[in-house]
Amino acid sequence: MDTYIRIFDTTLRDGEQSPGATMTSAEKLEVARALARLGVDVMEAGFPAASPDDLEAVKRIAQEVGNTTDGSRPPVICGLARATKNDIDKAWEAVAPAARPRIHTFLATSEIHMQYKLKMTREQVVEKVREMVAYAHSLCEDIEFSPEDAGRSDPEFLYQVLGEAIKAGATTLNIPDTVGYTTPEEFGGLIAGIAAKTPGIENCVISVHCHNDLGLATANTLAGIRAGAHQAEVTINGIGERAGNTALEEVVMALTTRHPMYQCVTGVDTTQIARVSKMVSNYTGMSVQPNKAIVGANAFAHEAGIHQDGMLKHNQTYEIMRPEAVGVKQTRLVLGKHSGRHALKIRMADLGYNLDDAELSKLFDRFKLLADKKKTITDTDLEALISDELYQPREYFSLEGLQVACGTMGMPTATVRLSGPDGQMHVQAAIGSGPVDAVYKAIDGVIKAPSTLLEFVIHAITEGIDAMGEVTVRIASGEKLPSITVQTEREQVRTFGGYGADTDIIVASAKAYLAAINKMLVATGQYEPAGAGEAVAEVTVA
Ligand code: KIV
Ligand code: ZN
Repeated sequence: MDTYIRIFDTTLRDGEQSPGATMTSAEKLEVARALARLGVDVMEAGFPAASPDDLEAVKRIAQEVGNTTDGSRPPVICGLARATKNDIDKAWEAVAPAARPRIHTFLATSEIHMQYKLKMTREQVVEKVREMVAYAHSLCEDIEFSPEDAGRSDPEFLYQVLGEAIKAGATTLNIPDTVGYTTPEEFGGLIAGIAAKTPGIENCVISVHCHNDLGLATANTLAGIRAGAHQAEVTINGIGERAGNTALEEVVMALTTRHPMYQCVTGVDTTQIARVSKMVSNYTGMSVQPNKAIVGANAFAHEAGIHQDGMLKHNQTYEIMRPEAVGVKQTRLVLGKHSGRHALKIRMADLGYNLDDAELSKLFDRFKLLADKKKTITDTDLEALISDELYQPREYFSLEGLQVACGTMGMPTATVRLSGPDGQMHVQAAIGSGPVDAVYKAIDGVIKAPSTLLEFVIHAITEGIDAMGEVTVRIASGEKLPSITVQTEREQVRTFGGYGADTDIIVASAKAYLAAINKMLVATGQYEPAGAGEAVAEVTVA
């Protein structure tokens, strides 16, 4: 008989807390909705004690995604808390509005963490776990406990700590390989030991939570499942601290594709995977490497001649999964200049986007502009337009016009026209080391919000000289924002990602930069527009 594996998604907590993955509250809500459509069982919506904004974001997800009106079962909404009353209270305040709330609390159990980070003895750790799990259980029925750095903890001590957590009311015991240190054999052995030797474990769910520092997160997670874990903690695209967490898409597709071996099922609708992956990548500004398993741009490309020949004879010669199974549509020439609004609506619905009238109108305007420049518009172009139009942060400043002069004959110069939150147009010119640098300096001249450009990635969406370009950027905020990382407990410099798509790559670059800056402005609630009504170019010399 098949074993059901619960998928616990922590994209919005472990994923979002990683450097560079900051999302606005509105984006988190969109991702949460997409995760619910994907069919995850539990979503860890955040770390409410990190900041009042984090608490509010989790609460909104609990209210809006953690409840349904059509009689369907909503996902469990989980909030993370360190083992303190204050954190647990905040987590409870945030998740309580959900129909199925969960508090997840943790305390480190490895010698190195207890000695240097916690400065606590084993006895003190056991006592704290007992006390805090019992406190969390007095508020909420569904309690998950994690012994942080379990991968490097003494197994005998783990059995004792987990046994106490169970007695105090924990129902899910999550085993994290916090620093991605273990190998599949070791991690599988650890889970088997816990399943066999922890008092009371038979009535609880064992969960696995692996980090990817040695590139073994998925292998370790699968080894944990083979050894008796019934919940896997994962993130979309594997985003997370350092080298990331186990990727949801890898675990789910391994269990699905190798079903005869694992005999496990999940509740995930795999056809939603590509779409959620794209959404998370756009919102976080963390682009997916082309050769990434399942969701990378090349994951289903068969370029080598020998592969193509095999594929034409029988597609299973080189393909172990159908691209459609993960929602990757085979690129087809679909629409053109003469296609109407209705055709666009139908095509978008085929691609899984049910747009309302306002969204369709926005998209149709962009589609028409694109169709004037590009003869044939593919599904991939449409997906890029959707990302560019609809998966965007609230715009304080938007790009109204852009002109650049560059080449070998002079200094790259850009003039930008931005509409600001004050309803005014702002025009600014700047000189830079290249056209993108000049554009970014001109934008900085209008929006005087200090930031540093950390990453700039550009690529063509489809083949052909008239292809659209897609740009992803990441910027670091010039000021520290009041949020702490859960594990190091340090204040962090938050970074923001932005995405832009256009047939003109300089325009795409400007949009991506503005999207990132708009997000930063939302997070800080601060901006300093140039003088109202200012419309005179002010040249900033690089
Ligand atoms: O990696 C880890 O140990 C964690 C815990 C908070 C579960 O993310
Ligand atoms: Zn983690």
